Amino acid sequence: MLAGTLPAVRFLGRVLAAHQVMAERLYPSTSLSCIGACFLRSASKRAMIRSALPLFASRRLSSLRAVAASLRPSPLDPVHIRLFQDAGGRSLSSSPGSAAAAKSAASDPVQLRSAREDIRELLKATFCHPILVRLGWHDSGTYDKNIEEWPQRGGANGSLRYDIELKHGANAGLVNALRLLQPIKDKYSGVTYADLFQLASATAVEEAGGPKIPMKYGRVDVIGPELCPEEGKLPSAGPPSPADHLREVFYRMGFNDKEIVALSGAHTLGRSRPERSGWGKSETKYTKDGPGAPGGQSWTVQWLKFDNSYFKDIKEQKDEDLLVLPTDAILFDDPSFKIYSEEYAQDQDSFFKDYAEAHSKLSNLGAKFDPPEGISIDDDGKGSIPEPFQAAKYSSGKRELSEAMKQKIRREYEAVGGSPDKPLKSNYFLNIMIAVALLAFLTSLLGN
Ligand code: HEM
Repeated sequence: MLAGTLPAVRFLGRVLAAHQVMAERLYPSTSLSCIGACFLRSASKRAMIRSALPLFASRRLSSLRAVAASLRPSPLDPVHIRLFQDAGGRSLSSSPGSAAAAKSAASDPVQLRSAREDIRELLKATFCHPILVRLGWHDSGTYDKNIEEWPQRGGANGSLRYDIELKHGANAGLVNALRLLQPIKDKYSGVTYADLFQLASATAVEEAGGPKIPMKYGRVDVIGPELCPEEGKLPSAGPPSPADHLREVFYRMGFNDKEIVALSGAHTLGRSRPERSGWGKSETKYTKDGPGAPGGQSWTVQWLKFDNSYFKDIKEQKDEDLLVLPTDAILFDDPSFKIYSEEYAQDQDSFFKDYAEAHSKLSNLGAKFDPPEGISIDDDGKGSIPEPFQAAKYSSGKRELSEAMKQKIRREYEAVGGSPDKPLKSNYFLNIMIAVALLAFLTSLLGN
């Protein structure tokens, strides 16, 4: 009897092995491919034969159910989790309402949402939109894409809360932004500084009439001032060659020309103060009465409104009371930057779209997320909504098969009439093969 059944089992194993290879290539999310994966991973062919042998001795039909059960993934095994995720589900580590997720994440989604409400109130009371945007940008803008290690690579990690970094020349005045946010930080222990800075910046843009920024949270904070980046990572406003300088600094962060221009559009908000950066007039007709602390020189007339007027104004350069830094002016002089500046001056929707994407990218630079996929706090009444699962994010650590293994799989595939070079168009044939093999398996058992 064993002589009859073992080949059937081996055949079934081969069919499933071949099916797994092809199914992973063709239908990464089909249930059958996952059954194949489960079969191969949780019960290798040899293990399967071992587990099936006692059944042949007992010859009880109920034992067949046990075999079927052993082939089914346990609700907690990794294959099951993958199945759940492949089907468009949320990763288990961050499922809504999961207490474990809420506890282990860097920031708590409920507290993040409350903190956002408090930031909105703060904005209404103090008109601090511009400085909050600048705070977020200066925390993340130290990122160096050529350094892999966190936090050495810089970026949105909350390091800007430390005195040593706040004292960098480029950060002059940002201590005021930190002072405004500190009470909110004290109120919400479940929100990291890194998240709070980016939350404040995105909220400020949105509240000023700008685009909705697609944000995620869960940034981990650096835990000591010794981990702050060295001075000199942020751009200067008046370098000898502004276009080269902007490219050098922003390319280091992984941005391109379009993103440089779009992000510069944030200067639609705010003012420059000579006592801080050395740039701008001490006051103009647009700033002498505030709102907020009066003074400084703005880039635009309505410097608390997020729109595309920055591009219109620096293009015209007609108003003596409006600021144009050398790094602003170059956006209409450099041929590549000019393409985007002209477009944004004409088309606010295009600016908003590109700005939102670039700001979102900026807010994530160098950040370490916990959970790794981040936490969304978008307003749909659910609290924590993780980003949709993306297989690509999880596939980087996948091991390549060895040549010998590939050859072996190829031989096994060919043994059941297929070819890895000519993938079958549908699962249909393979499904029938599996059904036939199972039938043969059952028949041989029942016959004994
Ligand atoms: C392109 C290179 C950039 C340069 C050279 C630059 C330079 C400056 C300077 C000199 C100030 C005046 C600071 C002060 O005196 O208080 C300033 C303010 C500001 N910057 Fe930039 N910046 C750049 C890019 C950005 C980016 C990418 C953002 C945001 C995405 C941004 C947002 C702001 C905001 C909102 C203010 C106003 C702050 C306030 O009113 O308190 N800047 N920037």
